[in-house]
Amino acid sequence: MHSIANHPLVSHRITLMRDRATPPKLFRELVAEITVYLAFEALKDLRLRTVPVATPVAETTGGLVDERIVLVPILRAGMGMLDAMLGVLPYAKVGVLGMQRNEQTAEPVPYYAKVPPAKGDELAIVIDPMLATGGSACDAVTQLKSLGYRRIKFLNLISAPEGVSRFEREHPDVPVFSAVMDERLNSHYYIVPGLGDAGDRIFGTL
Ligand code: PRP
Ligand code: URA
Repeated sequence: MHSIANHPLVSHRITLMRDRATPPKLFRELVAEITVYLAFEALKDLRLRTVPVATPVAETTGGLVDERIVLVPILRAGMGMLDAMLGVLPYAKVGVLGMQRNEQTAEPVPYYAKVPPAKGDELAIVIDPMLATGGSACDAVTQLKSLGYRRIKFLNLISAPEGVSRFEREHPDVPVFSAVMDERLNSHYYIVPGLGDAGDRIFGTL
């Protein structure tokens, strides 16, 4: 399942992010704002536990989130979405997967993994702004599955059709929530029109 946010406030922010003149500080703020929107969209099915609550006016019942959640940013660029996710899910644990695309083949080269042990029923949310060839996201989900994670979602900002096709082929059980879908990849496997290298834009390493 691939869901694309179709919202003018998301389009507005993506347009500002695409602009090569947008500095890292503003870029990071835009990443965070879109991430919060995606989180609300992607987590509509979170389990709630019913609790009593006394308002100043009456006794009633309400619902509190009753899920173990593990956020999994793919280094580096996924770190740009992490604080916003933790703002929405303050009790989540964090697992980190380091991956660097080979510049010639675009295949991901894993270089780090530190993920909490899976108990089996927790929800793992993989975050990374870009889904280009899909190699990094597919590898991240494969690693999580091999560690025992069974409930996984993937949140990203910009997708290429090539990456979505690959991801849906390799992990049809993992829903993807994107802010926008772009046109295609170029010959260097960059998303067109895209926004360039998300990690460089976030961390100012251009
Ligand atoms: C970028 C991005 C994704 C990956 C997407 O990371 O953050 O992880 O590319 O491309 P793919 O779908 O073709 O795998 P990159 O490898 O450039 O590393 P960085 O985050 O350290 O800049
Ligand atoms: N990774 C990025 O950061 N940008 C792209 O366009 C493709 C992969």
